[in-house]
Amino acid sequence: MIIKSAEFIISAVSAKQYPEEGLPEIALAGRSNVGKSSLINKIINRKNLARTSSQPGKTQTLNYYKINEEFYFVDLPGYGFAKVSKELRNKWAEFIEDYLSKREVLQGVIHIIDVRHPPTGEDCMMYDWLTHFKLPTLVVATKADKISRGQWQKHIKEIKVKMKLPASQQLVLFSKETGQGLPEITKWIEDVKKD
Ligand code: GTP
Ligand code: MG
Repeated sequence: MIIKSAEFIISAVSAKQYPEEGLPEIALAGRSNVGKSSLINKIINRKNLARTSSQPGKTQTLNYYKINEEFYFVDLPGYGFAKVSKELRNKWAEFIEDYLSKREVLQGVIHIIDVRHPPTGEDCMMYDWLTHFKLPTLVVATKADKISRGQWQKHIKEIKVKMKLPASQQLVLFSKETGQGLPEITKWIEDVKKD
């Protein structure tokens, strides 16, 4: 994918603010601090267009990035942030679920998991939602550079088992440091945004 332009459009806090031109959208879902914004930056080859942070819970809105005047990346609020109130958590869950279930231009979701740790209950729940809403999904196991190569397969297997991924589910091992997995991810995006 050749990136000709990438611009931040809006941090939406309600559905009324979503863009209306009908361009396809690809959303990024995953735990807070897992590396959603970093993946966007890597794909568009920019250091910090999508704001990243070592403080979890930074992205609390639906952040829209317009790519090549052709489609949008939608950076979803990260789930599983322990330090927020239960009330706020429920609000986020409702907001995300509403978007995933009702957004007609949503073409697919990149679901990001930290390859270092076993998937959490919330990771499993998110994947179940995506399946339930019949959304084309790419599972990305990120931060591959943080564990040794010899550990990769064991960790990937654990993700597959815990999240009950069907054999047909595509999973890509990724690292923003090494760029591994990037060609497979951009290929998936190219294919899914056309459908
Ligand atoms: P929220 O917006 O808070 O939900 O977080 P996020 O999912 O957007 O994560 P973000 O991209 O901000 O990354 C969180 C931290 O993980 C940052 O310090 C990143 O530099 C780091 N990080 C992300 N991806 C990778 C990776 O592939 N390898 C390594 N080593 N660090 C990564
Ligand atoms: Mg973020």
